[in-house]
Amino acid sequence: MSENPTFNAPIGTRDVLGPDSAEWEGLVGLFATLAHRYGFSLILSPLFEDVGVFHRGIGEESEVASKEMYVFEDRAGRRLALRPEGTASVVRAFVQHHPLTPFKAWYITPAFRYERPQAGRYRQHHQVGVEALGTEDPALDVEVISLAARFYDALGLRQVRLLINSMGHDACRASYVALLRDHLALHVEELCDEHRGVWEKNPLRLLDCKKEECVAVTSAGPMLIDHLCDECRDHFTTVREGLKAIGIESEIAPRLVRGFDYYTRTTFEFVSDALGNAQNAVGGGGRYDKLAEQLGGDPTSGIGFGSGVERLLLARAAEGHDAPLLDRTLDVFVVDTTEEEYATVLVDRLRGAGFSVGRAYDHRSMKAQMKVADRSGARYALIVGPRELDAGLVTLRDLRREGEQESVALAQLDQELARRLRR
Ligand code: HAM
Repeated sequence: MSENPTFNAPIGTRDVLGPDSAEWEGLVGLFATLAHRYGFSLILSPLFEDVGVFHRGIGEESEVASKEMYVFEDRAGRRLALRPEGTASVVRAFVQHHPLTPFKAWYITPAFRYERPQAGRYRQHHQVGVEALGTEDPALDVEVISLAARFYDALGLRQVRLLINSMGHDACRASYVALLRDHLALHVEELCDEHRGVWEKNPLRLLDCKKEECVAVTSAGPMLIDHLCDECRDHFTTVREGLKAIGIESEIAPRLVRGFDYYTRTTFEFVSDALGNAQNAVGGGGRYDKLAEQLGGDPTSGIGFGSGVERLLLARAAEGHDAPLLDRTLDVFVVDTTEEEYATVLVDRLRGAGFSVGRAYDHRSMKAQMKVADRSGARYALIVGPRELDAGLVTLRDLRREGEQESVALAQLDQELARRLRR
């Protein structure tokens, strides 16, 4: 036994190894293809930012910024934070680089939140998402929401519902918050322990509270959706009609305020009925028409969504999908019993011809190499022995049909493999 200490991945984080990682590759590839189809380009930006980006972006008082963010000082004393979500960084980059609008970017990113880890809730999770800036046209809301819906569809998810709400804009939200405050003031004693003392500061947060007490009080109170100004109501109606026109049903969820301060007008969430209640959101997003300004840019409307990769894969499993999103099994495993290391030449040739190829190392016996070939999951074993090689032949063994094998001329090998693998 080694006397060195051993380490595990930090609590709330996970390693993803093959073959599971092929599911990730497949999912991200699918999202990239769809995002491109909708005119989005990939954006890469740093995983850490000046903490101010998130304080101003998602709101210093938000649960995520105040309780869950990984904040640290670098060696020069700068206050930085690991990104807890993707939107604020994208908008910071937009403000910094002044790209042409509409600006449409997609991403795959880890996000870091110091949450209580449980199934479907991690301290490092991963999101695929998009952000689109430059117009408040409801057609863009429809486009962004439909991209999410089509993505879930392509993943085979059938038990996903779209919940939608509007946060209004500054003016109509402010008059609504006043109404809500009046209502809450009459019911302070009935609120949950967490919110009884702090309801006044940000009453909208209470709509997000899942505790029975708060749900009872807020359900009996005014709802923002009933107090929108004419413009915001028209915007909301147009979004819902646009979605309906392309066959996407949405349910109004008047309590859906989401956890970040940047949202204005459209907010939405996709929930999976196949997942447990607390972690059933597979994606969420909305408009943020003030965010660019809050991060020092010109006023520019935007909308986007983020979707949790882990949650999507959990939802797929919960719905019973076991066909892989991407087949990453090897085509061929070369078993070499020549003394001359012929495998080195053969794998190079086959890889060059486009096949995925594994091999054994360390000059093991044929039996030991066949064992590795079996374990590798490869479709075929290619057995090369000295006598066969002299005759210009190799043995092709079908690893999924035990015992089936045939001699193939080396000169014909590429064509034979392509035929068998239907390339
Ligand atoms: P969010 O709702 O906080 O929104 O996260 C988006 C998705 O990430 C969630 O629906 C969920 O699937 C997944 N997720 C969030 N937290 C965790 C966690 N701790 N563990 C596992 N999965 C998690 C945002 O982050 C916004 N930036 C979305 C957005 C984009 N709004 C506008 N543009």
